Amino acid sequence: MSKLAIISGAYSGIGFEIARILGNMGYDLAISGSSDRIHDAKTELKKTGVEVYAFQADAATYEGVEGFWQFTKDLGRNVDIAILNVGIGLGGAFVDNKLEDDFRVIAINITGTVHLAKRVVQHMVPNKAGRIMIVSSLSATTPTPFETVYGPSKAFGYMFAESLREELRDTGVSVTALLPGATNTRFHKNAGMATSKIDHGPKNDLHEVAQQGVDALMQNEDMVVGGNAATKQQAIDNRATPETVKAARHAILCKLNSEQ
Ligand SMILES: NC(=O)c1ccc[n+]([C@@H]2O[C@H](COP(=O)([O-])OP(=O)(O)OC[C@H]3O[C@@H](n4cnc5c(N)ncnc54)[C@H](OP(=O)(O)O)[C@@H]3O)[C@@H](O)[C@H]2O)c1
Repeated sequence: MSKLAIISGAYSGIGFEIARILGNMGYDLAISGSSDRIHDAKTELKKTGVEVYAFQADAATYEGVEGFWQFTKDLGRNVDIAILNVGIGLGGAFVDNKLEDDFRVIAINITGTVHLAKRVVQHMVPNKAGRIMIVSSLSATTPTPFETVYGPSKAFGYMFAESLREELRDTGVSVTALLPGATNTRFHKNAGMATSKIDHGPKNDLHEVAQQGVDALMQNEDMVVGGNAATKQQAIDNRATPETVKAARHAILCKLNSEQ
């Protein structure tokens, strides 16, 4: 029987592209999304020739995350790869944004990631095998004004991945963090950032980012910055740049037009 990979948030964007790459590598796929469009993704991914199982659920809720895991478990198969990809952004000024929207970012990007990771780790460790990817962001390496809750939620994902990786060192289960730079998906528009400079600036190629993530996962690397040479250089530079300088730079990129 083929191996099985699960990917959260795989209707479109980075999750879909990683799913397509894994499908082309022969992995059967269990995918999730919040709308019934996830079944369109299933149809598209089946063209890779593997079995695809699609589940519609809101990753912002306990029931949604648990439901996706139960759906996967009910397939009665080992999970060989888990891509914890689902994440949302939120642009705008913290003072103006609704508290429930801030909480939704935390629910999906942090609480939901911990929830699915718990189920996956407790499944993989007894099997002594498995590969986990946490999709974080280059935003994990900088303050992110005008995405003031989003960036720290991705910093959580990065350090969560590095922490878990060390804990699981001798278990046969690996953990890899993917830190994409700005990537050519609908992410910024979905985050209400269509009028920001970042949504109109250069973006990394979706396939390149996804492929770099899968390569790092298969090579058991602790992390990879997803994107071109300039993006990778930025991650290196960020280590030596004061937080105040990075914050000022990010504010210019992410302020909405209406706020300038
Ligand atoms: N694009 C970038 O510039 C960038 C940069 C760094 C990191 N990232 C990270 O990469 C990951 C994927 O982002 P992306 O760029 O591919 O974004 P995207 O194009 O907006 O795709 C997000 C995916 O998640 C699904 N989704 C959204 N809300 C959901 C929910 N509540 N429950 C279940 N599924 C949900 C969406 O499908 P439905 O809407 O149908 O649910 C879609 O398939 C995120 O974790 C993001 O933080 C992105």
